[in-house]
Amino acid sequence: AGKWVRMVTAQTPTNIAVIKYWGKRDEALILPVNDSISVTLDPAHLCTTTTVAVSPSFDQDRMWLNGKEISLAGGRFQSCLREIRSRACDVEDEEKGIKIAKKEWENLHLHIASYNNFPTAAGLASSAAGFACLVFALAKLMNAKEDQSQLSAIARQGSGSACRSLYGGFVKWIMGNDEDGRDSLAVQLADEKHWDDLVIIIAVVSSRQKETSSTSGMRETVETSLLLKHRAKEIVPKRIVQMEEAIKNRDFASFAQLTCTDSNQFHAVCLDTSPPIFYMNDTSHRIISVVEKWNRSEGVPQVAYTFDAGPNAVMIARDRKAASLLLQRLLFHFPPNADTDLNSYIIGDKSILQ
Ligand code: PMV
Repeated sequence: AGKWVRMVTAQTPTNIAVIKYWGKRDEALILPVNDSISVTLDPAHLCTTTTVAVSPSFDQDRMWLNGKEISLAGGRFQSCLREIRSRACDVEDEEKGIKIAKKEWENLHLHIASYNNFPTAAGLASSAAGFACLVFALAKLMNAKEDQSQLSAIARQGSGSACRSLYGGFVKWIMGNDEDGRDSLAVQLADEKHWDDLVIIIAVVSSRQKETSSTSGMRETVETSLLLKHRAKEIVPKRIVQMEEAIKNRDFASFAQLTCTDSNQFHAVCLDTSPPIFYMNDTSHRIISVVEKWNRSEGVPQVAYTFDAGPNAVMIARDRKAASLLLQRLLFHFPPNADTDLNSYIIGDKSILQ
């Protein structure tokens, strides 16, 4: 006794919202003011790999992110750990001769090692992949019997957008009505095979950490923006219905129009916050212009763009041909070593122009 270690490794891709979540109605439970819809990236692209280990020889819970130890003291980690521990079951690993009884879990400690293959906290939704992966890996380690949607409601308490990374393809986070948040969870709208013509290209405009965290940004927006109230009540509910329809019918024109417009409204809501929050920079704005002009000149949209809480552009091209034309245009307008702060493009699993 005291010598064994049980380990589980999981890999989770990040997701990019096409109808944005911005604003919490309950900060502790992370309950949003509106539904949101996202696309989960291919696991080969931007993802988090997390190994969780348990051993009677560990004397405290510890975590390393990209090789550096980080504190688990924050409420979010504690919420996820507590929720998963409370659902732990008997574990029997015959191969290794390990037996852990349900009641032992509360006295066992964990070591957690997590790696992102993309910039952390630069608006590329690293916390989404991170908390989803953590919750998924812990559930496997502890033999918790919850389904993906129930796990999503736990991941949500780590980072709201994380609940959407428990599924591939197109995912909706239903805001829910319950005060305890049990019905605020993710459901899959369509799997990854449903619309596999789409190609995602990410322009890494800056890999610096963002200045305003999504938590404090959302709090300020909820407290000061009238536009957010209008958006959450009047605009998003209609857009969610339209977006579900566009996804179901693989209607790229509607999908692109809704995606771009919703990203722009999210950034307008940030600007409507007091003091205003700026996540996009000049390069982001120039990318929007290039895409808008091209879409207009073609008559039918070729590419949708969307920006999260940072300046990096996520572009979704209608097919491979549009993706390669987009890349040519981007390289023409934003050549390497020009005086923009754009430092690389990520297309699928390839990263060029480092
Ligand atoms: O879940 P958080 O706290 O990382 O917030 C994410 C918010 C946005 O990425 C800007 C929008 C979204 O729906 O993912």
